[in-house]
Amino acid sequence: MSKYRTAIIACGTIARVHARGWRGVAGQPTEIGAIADTNPDARREFGDFFNVGEAHRYADYREMLDKEHPDFVDVCSWHQQHAEMVIAAAARRPKVILCQKPMAVDLGEADAMLTACARNGVKLMIAFQRPHHATWLKARDLIREGVIGQVTQIQMDDGGNILNTNSHNIRLALFLMDEPQVEWVMGAVERTTDQVERGLPAEDACMGLVACANGATILIQGNLVRGLGQGCRVIGTEGIMELDTTRHPDSEIPTDLPMYMPEGPSARYNYEIGTVKYLNASSNGWKQVEAPWHDSWSHQCQEAIDWAEERVEQPISSAERARAVQEIMMALFESARKRQRIYLPLKTRVNPLKLMVENGDLPVEWPGRYELRAKLVRGEAMSWNQTPT
Ligand SMILES: NC(=O)c1ccc[n+]([C@@H]2O[C@H](COP(=O)([O-])OP(=O)(O)OC[C@H]3O[C@@H](n4cnc5c(N)ncnc54)[C@H](O)[C@@H]3O)[C@@H](O)[C@H]2O)c1
Repeated sequence: MSKYRTAIIACGTIARVHARGWRGVAGQPTEIGAIADTNPDARREFGDFFNVGEAHRYADYREMLDKEHPDFVDVCSWHQQHAEMVIAAAARRPKVILCQKPMAVDLGEADAMLTACARNGVKLMIAFQRPHHATWLKARDLIREGVIGQVTQIQMDDGGNILNTNSHNIRLALFLMDEPQVEWVMGAVERTTDQVERGLPAEDACMGLVACANGATILIQGNLVRGLGQGCRVIGTEGIMELDTTRHPDSEIPTDLPMYMPEGPSARYNYEIGTVKYLNASSNGWKQVEAPWHDSWSHQCQEAIDWAEERVEQPISSAERARAVQEIMMALFESARKRQRIYLPLKTRVNPLKLMVENGDLPVEWPGRYELRAKLVRGEAMSWNQTPT
């Protein structure tokens, strides 16, 4: 019998990845003890697949929290529900809450989540899993050792829209530089079509420069150039390092066929591989960095357990570190809104991109709202704005 019980709120794609993560921790100290989802098919498919008994499946996540008293709560719902769910979970005082990225949709929500956890003595982690890749942990150590000298710039090619996929890259940049303070952010945003991502306005393209107190800058080129997608290029005074992702072949990846799966097996996320190579005066060309592979999600769950058992003081994925990502993203949008450099700390608590869209500051040239993740929505709905059927 496992020592701990985890309760999962929202049983969609990423919840499956988390479930595999918890189960993949050595010795399986946690079991998936309870699940909650408003959609009955999601509850049934997920519950049957991961052997969660029917008595522990709930439509109302608050009822689940009240009845089950889980040790860990894992929030796997959409961006706009993260704050509400984390605050509700914190009030029930589990040991640790793990919440999906992005932490929140604005800075005000992120701070409310931290306040709710602090006043209840609950530890909060945000699931930016990629720094937990074995090779990326090693990359951070190599940078610390000075293999490429002093970091002067971290460049992100592409990486998708800021709030969703590029948030991973911003987190990566801060991680690789050992969490530097950020002094200012300057950003530009293009939004000529009315696209939303999980119901929230998203930009077509975004460019940003983030100035860190250690003298380095982070260059963000979201949806502007092709190159490293999830990953980055680290320019140092004595070399260059590139981080990228690949994954195990599909033939090696477990399927979740009985479940609704519009995007292929969710375990692709569990089987992702971080790649790293660097170039310096003594490397004799690009040198590939190797490390024994592990599931980054299991590594993150292990860290949650270690934090609960007070074996780590500041986990890689602590919410304070995710708040730093949230502040940069919002400062970038605020810079575009105010047409000026934004010095941190950021005082704006709402989402400036949303504000610009609502105020008509980013007029749509080609009308017609569309949802980037429409494929994920069940039934007849085409967005999370509509009630899924
Ligand atoms: N870290 C990563 O690499 C990564 C990858 C994919 C998704 N995500 C994040 O995971 C989150 C969820 O995305 P997804 O793709 O799994 O979504 P999804 O649409 O597959 O699943 C969401 C689930 O939430 C359920 N839900 C909605 N309202 C609910 C409520 N009030 N109570 C309980 N359940 C409710 C839905 O019924 C659905 O089953 C997003 O915030 C996304 O950013 C992260």
